[in-house]
Amino acid sequence: MVRKPLIAGNWKMNMTPAESVVLSQGISNRSARGWNKVDVVLCPPAIDLRSVVTVLDFDKSSIEVGAQNVHWEPSGAFTGEIGIPMLKDVGCSWCIVGHSERRAMFAETDMQVNRKVRALVEAGMKPIVCVGESEAVRDKGAAEAFVCDQVRAALAGVDADEAALCSIAYEPVWAIGTGRSATPEQAQSMACAIRRTVRDLVGEEVACGMRILYGGSMKPENAEAFLSCEDVDGGLIGGASLDADDFAALVKTAVDHV
Ligand code: PGA
Repeated sequence: MVRKPLIAGNWKMNMTPAESVVLSQGISNRSARGWNKVDVVLCPPAIDLRSVVTVLDFDKSSIEVGAQNVHWEPSGAFTGEIGIPMLKDVGCSWCIVGHSERRAMFAETDMQVNRKVRALVEAGMKPIVCVGESEAVRDKGAAEAFVCDQVRAALAGVDADEAALCSIAYEPVWAIGTGRSATPEQAQSMACAIRRTVRDLVGEEVACGMRILYGGSMKPENAEAFLSCEDVDGGLIGGASLDADDFAALVKTAVDHV
């Protein structure tokens, strides 16, 4: 099956609303023929979503917008949180879930990740579910078991139609923001294990169609090697998504692969 590549930029806690206009405009200006063959998603901080959507709408761009986090309840007494109806209202159709920074620094659990995934798919939104092992887990030789457990936990209670909305980003914790990416072989072998796990959970068809991304120090210079892997269908890009030229170069690499 031919899967449409997905390139998502995770801006993390960077860019004021004014800066987000400049960056999204810069990326939109660099978009070229063929970009619609790839799902390109910008995930700015929540406070920037409105500005970024406005820029992309004005340009009639095929680039879409995602959030970096969400609460599973639609509304209520959850100070500081953002609900799915708010994201949909602002024009956001994707959402990163379970990023390792949220798991490590904000104590997000597998169970919370699962609640978020279920709430998003019930609302018809598209979760990008992040999984990945620490260096200690990899050194013990337990990376595959750990990551596949995270996948099973994230997708618990999700049926095949709902899972079809999900993508999974394999992001080894030791590769994020370190400049030390995984090897393409490591990425391919984990992506293949993730796809097998998804197949066991929701069947062959959805597993074959699901985009599995690599993330962790992916940049224009190494993107080609990752995107050439049979089971790697795109990237979740942190640092390199903050530079319009780098991000556009990454998208172009994906376009050239279609
Ligand atoms: P990085 O971040 O590309 O800066 O390593 C990736 C991510 O955390 O999603």
